[in-house]
Amino acid sequence: MKKEPKRILVTGACGQIGSELTIALRKKYGTDNVVASDLYEPQKGSPIENGLFEKLDVTNFENFEQIVKRHNIDTIVHLAALLSVVGENNPTKCWNVNIGGTLNAFNIGVKHNLLQIFVPSSIAVWGPGIPKIAPQDGILKPRTMYGVTKVTIELLGDYYFNKFGLDCRGIRYPGIISSETPPGGGTTDYAVEIFYKAVKGEKFICFVNEDTRLPMMYMPDCIKAALDLMDAPIDKLTHHCDYNVGAMSFDVKSLANEIRKYYPNFEIEYRPDHRQQIADSWPDDVDDSIARQDWGWQPDYDMPKMVIDMIEKLRNKLI
Ligand code: NAD
Ligand code: SER
Repeated sequence: MKKEPKRILVTGACGQIGSELTIALRKKYGTDNVVASDLYEPQKGSPIENGLFEKLDVTNFENFEQIVKRHNIDTIVHLAALLSVVGENNPTKCWNVNIGGTLNAFNIGVKHNLLQIFVPSSIAVWGPGIPKIAPQDGILKPRTMYGVTKVTIELLGDYYFNKFGLDCRGIRYPGIISSETPPGGGTTDYAVEIFYKAVKGEKFICFVNEDTRLPMMYMPDCIKAALDLMDAPIDKLTHHCDYNVGAMSFDVKSLANEIRKYYPNFEIEYRPDHRQQIADSWPDDVDDSIARQDWGWQPDYDMPKMVIDMIEKLRNKLI
């Protein structure tokens, strides 16, 4: 029988994904059944404020466990992490937060017999030499510490499932594009920043070159993927924390041209920096046929549809 999650703790809830996924979870499961948490209090006016919130450093096992016990949590949506660029600035901290935090979530999951842990992975699991369309199962040799932690988390997911029967699930998210909360220091951040500049009528200095092509996904699809995978019957799942999910793939030049349909004078200058090397080590797109087969994954947004919606949302927010 399917186990319905009822009392959810979201870690890293103030970040780019958490700030929107928390709201979606509250709509689905009830505001009082979803506890948001992060290192810092939510910003004034953030929709996260309208519900339960706990300050939590996920590397602190005791606090993590106390919060799970206090709120009678049965499901953890574990989003707290350091992303690729922030991670390269401090690789040891990246390892400690990403691996230490996830081990704590998994160990609390086993100790308290939790129903489910959802923990995202990333296209950062791949490295140089990966085929242009990354297969579901294949060689994972990342060059960033962030990627190393994501491969490790995927392996830990398999380990905790096989050894302890812990139901852990995750998605290899592409770069996420959204209008609510700016991204937290990743290589794909350019695909969000470009919109802020275009809508404000400013020139965009892009830190990767115009031919850089990466897999991307619009936030509504990111939320849908998380909710759908969390809901999927466990007997249908052939993977745990490493499902490829695709939605769109484009190079920066094509994105800029699409934006120019709405802002014909939009200017962009390419000044590739150290982040180019990271982008070049990731695939152009992913093969997500297993996610489609196992739990019916199907994105709603392609690039032109995402551009229209992003521009409309940012115009309302910024102008
Ligand atoms: P983000 O950087 O926007 O947010 C991460 C949040 O974690 C921040 O609010 C930060 O304060 C919090 N945090 C950092 N260290 C913490 C700690 N020690 N204890 C508690 N909280 C801590 O990240 P995001 O984009 O929302 O990513 C969420 C998850 O999705 C991560 O696992 C990330 O790897 C994954 N992911 C994101 C993308 C993307 O493009 N946004 C793509 C692939 C995978
Ligand atoms: N968007 C993320 C990053 O660039 C990918 O996981 O780090």
